[in-house]
Amino acid sequence: MIKKNNLKIKINYLKKIKIFKKYNEAYFNKSKPIVDDSSYDDLKKEILELEKKYPFLINKESPSTKVGFKPSKNFKKVKHLVPMLSLNNAFDREDLVNFEKKIINFLSLKKNYLLEYSAEPKIDGISASLFYKNGNFVKGLSRGDGVEGEDITLNLNTIADIPRVLKGKNIPSEIDIRGEVFIQNSDFKKLSEKFANPRNAASGSLRQKNPEKTKKIPLKFIAYTFGFSKDLNISDQLQFLELLKNWGFKVNKFNRIIKGIDNLIKNHVELEAKRKEIDFDIDGVVYKVNDFILQKRLGFVGNAPRWAIAHKFSANKSISEILKIEIQVGRTGALTPVAKIKPVNIGGVLVSNATLHNEDEIERKDIRVGDIVTVERAGDVIPRVIAVDLKKRNKNSKKFNFPKKCPSCGSTTFKEYNKITKKIDAVRRCINDGYGCEKIAIEKIKHFVSKEAFNIDGLGKKIIESFWELKLIRYPQDIFNLDFEKISGLDGWGKLSVANLKYSVDDKKNISLSKFIYSLGIRHIGQENAKLLSKTLKNANKFFDLGKNNNFEEIFNIDGIGETQINSIKDFFSNKKNLIVLNELKKILKIKEEKEISKNDILGEKTFMFTGKLVGISRAEAKSLVENNSGKIISNVSKKLDFLVTGEKPTARKINEAKNLDIKIISQSEFLKMLNIKGS
Ligand code: IVH
Repeated sequence: MIKKNNLKIKINYLKKIKIFKKYNEAYFNKSKPIVDDSSYDDLKKEILELEKKYPFLINKESPSTKVGFKPSKNFKKVKHLVPMLSLNNAFDREDLVNFEKKIINFLSLKKNYLLEYSAEPKIDGISASLFYKNGNFVKGLSRGDGVEGEDITLNLNTIADIPRVLKGKNIPSEIDIRGEVFIQNSDFKKLSEKFANPRNAASGSLRQKNPEKTKKIPLKFIAYTFGFSKDLNISDQLQFLELLKNWGFKVNKFNRIIKGIDNLIKNHVELEAKRKEIDFDIDGVVYKVNDFILQKRLGFVGNAPRWAIAHKFSANKSISEILKIEIQVGRTGALTPVAKIKPVNIGGVLVSNATLHNEDEIERKDIRVGDIVTVERAGDVIPRVIAVDLKKRNKNSKKFNFPKKCPSCGSTTFKEYNKITKKIDAVRRCINDGYGCEKIAIEKIKHFVSKEAFNIDGLGKKIIESFWELKLIRYPQDIFNLDFEKISGLDGWGKLSVANLKYSVDDKKNISLSKFIYSLGIRHIGQENAKLLSKTLKNANKFFDLGKNNNFEEIFNIDGIGETQINSIKDFFSNKKNLIVLNELKKILKIKEEKEISKNDILGEKTFMFTGKLVGISRAEAKSLVENNSGKIISNVSKKLDFLVTGEKPTARKINEAKNLDIKIISQSEFLKMLNIKGS
């Protein structure tokens, strides 16, 4: 009798498990929930209650034991067809002049050439990429880390400004439309749920797991650029903005075509004055070289285009009092003084910390505890103390003594001598550059898991700090051997969040070589240099081998990797703890060989060197032409050189050396012909 009853219970239980599995599949893997949150939670509760009453039921599909749902707030990760870049910032005329000068030099244009820009207000929202196939909206992604975004199609689908189907003529067969999702200030004020600012509200709304909730917050969309495209036949940004309008997108009504720095500044001043009247937050003006051919020639440096810049509006300022000066120890051992100030509202954000930059800055401005200071906050830049009101200084105030010992590990500190600038650095550093200093180690691990490095979901800065406190981690490799049992017993950690963390950690054991190198946090090796190294080394073992026998020859001739970087890499490999970390990581990780993206293979790994003045094209552009077409630049004539390209007045010595070694000597126009570019 009892047995029969048990069978009934079991059948009922398994039915529920089956439905629960379906919900999970739709929700986690397809990002297409088929029930609302409360029905999902109710079912889960019913299952758990049954299990509690009849423990014999629990099986491996139970929500109490199941691990391995897709993590990351439930959105599927998708690679962008063309990376979503960021923009460099300009703050004043000088920055703009430099921006334009670099472009003119790169393109080898006449000094007084008047470049035409598309000047577009920079909306302070969340960027998104919308993929249209034959005019139909098929997928929408968040920016993510720029390379990989999250599939937020369903949420974007709730935004009225996003056309489901494109209207009008000249619709490309495939295109990624990019723009800004934001919330209007007037709508923001009406929200019942409180967010710090409209940007956070837009971001929160866009990442709701339930699209119904997104629908409740009135999001807007303004389009301004594109990523991947097929059959798009236009020649400049102005035409593109025009097409966007025809297709049914909203574009910014303050977009202008402008020539000349003076006019850019005039427009900037006018827009800044209008800022309060506009019903959404703008934090600057984006300038884009209008001509697409020039944009293409200019290309990118790091993750920002050479052809565009964001001219930020001036910062908001407030007055406050310094309560305390704390010294933070960074990942590279830098001691950064931070002023703890009386909390003050600066342009809508409550600020209680402001950076004091470094020891020299404190000395120069004679900043003291108790001082009344002006604090500035510009957009997403860290607030900083810009001036001291000496008249308000208390007579008894004492000069601030910058510590000479590391506040974290007590080691001595030093200031570096910069061989290139021939100056002593303004920054004081802890001599303990590895894992021996607690604060440095914590920062190194935070960097290791950060978005641009291992990008491990669920391991934010606060969590790394608490895991450190609990002795769960000491070195990067510990991330892959976490004690999940202990973690599930911690406050705030439910079964699902532990399962998600476990999934994220396992998922990231596969990593590209460039991300791996970047994640190690070697000084002077940022994302761009990590990419250069991985492109040359290709294979992870070659990277590990750099440490063996102190052989760094492989990386001596990389364009962009100079003496500073090489010395820093040597230092890194001479540190025993680093070698242990590398060895442990090597056992755990699968480091993928670097795949080259969207490169033309025209030059097939051949090596080039230039001599003499090139006509109508700068050295920098010639170099990037070689590199973007799979060639390599080398900096001296040797047997390794395939082509010596000669411009006007080439160096006779180089020509002779090349002749002696039987190296092909070609003219500039022959070089351009190799790339199917007409010579001038
Ligand atoms: S163009 C390569 N145009 O600014 C070009 N961006 O720091 C990159 N943004 O993530 C984007 N208004 O969220 C572009 N008119 C505009 C923009 C704009 C706002 C944001 C966008 C991007 C960030 C770049």
